[in-house]
Amino acid sequence: MIELRNVSQRYQGPQGWVDALQAVNLTIPAGEIFGIIGRSGAGKSTLVRTINLLSRPSEGEVLVAGRTLTALPADQLRQARREIGMIFQHFNLLNSRTVFENVALPLELAGMKRAAIEAAVLPLLELVGLSAQKDRYPARISGGQKQRVGIARALASKPKVLLSDEATSALDPETTRSILELLRSINRKLGLTIVLITHQMEVIKQVCDRVAVLDAGRVVEQGSVVDVFLKPRHEVTRALLGDVIAHELPDAVKARVAKHLETGEGRLLRLAFAGASVDRPLLSETIRRYAVDMNILHGQVDDIQGRAFGSLAVLAGGEPAQLGAALDFLREQGVVVEALSHV
Ligand SMILES: Nc1ncnc2c1ncn2[C@@H]1O[C@H](COP(=O)(O)OP(=O)(O)OP(=O)(O)O)[C@@H](O)[C@H]1O
Ligand SMILES: [Mg+2]
Repeated sequence: MIELRNVSQRYQGPQGWVDALQAVNLTIPAGEIFGIIGRSGAGKSTLVRTINLLSRPSEGEVLVAGRTLTALPADQLRQARREIGMIFQHFNLLNSRTVFENVALPLELAGMKRAAIEAAVLPLLELVGLSAQKDRYPARISGGQKQRVGIARALASKPKVLLSDEATSALDPETTRSILELLRSINRKLGLTIVLITHQMEVIKQVCDRVAVLDAGRVVEQGSVVDVFLKPRHEVTRALLGDVIAHELPDAVKARVAKHLETGEGRLLRLAFAGASVDRPLLSETIRRYAVDMNILHGQVDDIQGRAFGSLAVLAGGEPAQLGAALDFLREQGVVVEALSHV
């Protein structure tokens, strides 16, 4: 659906050139919610703006719905852009227009007649749960409701793609959850492809099918959300995951483990598992089969879009060959086993 080929973006900054994007290659399948996460300044907004060519890349190609946007003449590009809706962190509503009139604006601009506009806007307000607020002005609705207006307005021109740049960053956690649920239901009902930019892993965890991690203008990691949560490869991903998964041990545990590792034996490991392996008594089975010790130091079982997901820090001990066989067994069962070295 969306493909970025070798996209780079350079800006002339006050201290010379800034490489906001460097040779980015991304394929975003139709019908998915694709998350792009990164720290501040990583290039997320630049990336999302290249998808609709609000910012034309210095190099590379952008393809959306089979068309190479970077090669289109201006009039065709304008047409192609109608298929790409966008929502923003600060909603960008017109305060002098009611909820209804805000949603109607793109249709008015496209020259649509009043009756047709009503026929299009009322169901959209229904879809986002704002029928009762249609005649209110933005100053008199909540932040979550403002974002619902933004979503309805973005959907007015029947886009195939919805771009969201930190659309929940100005909202509290509960409102964030309700907006993400709305996006999920729109994605399912309309088959809309959604590209969701965020700096919060929690947002990725709640709604995204796939995620790409951006750092200093480069995609440093990408994959399905479950895979990336199970086995984050890049240090930036781990740091961002720290908000939702305990990768770091609490200080008190660290001190105890460090002392133990100095004097005693054992290996400090992280075991991560998803789906079926969460429900099986795998650890006790491993301990019994291989006569090893697994002392759980820290951990959690969580939920990624209905799929159980667990992460445990364990101190494993036993005869080395047995321990090796036990870890192989866990891996065969789909558990991700890795050394936790940073104590
Ligand atoms: N129009 C511009 N002119 C010059 N430099 C720019 C411009 N837009 C962005 N940059 C620079 O490009 C880099 C990436 O910026 P971008 O806004 O894409 O990051 P971001 O990941 O969206 O950050 P944030 O999380 O803070 O929104 C930054 O170093 C920024 O200063
Ligand atoms: Mg940004």
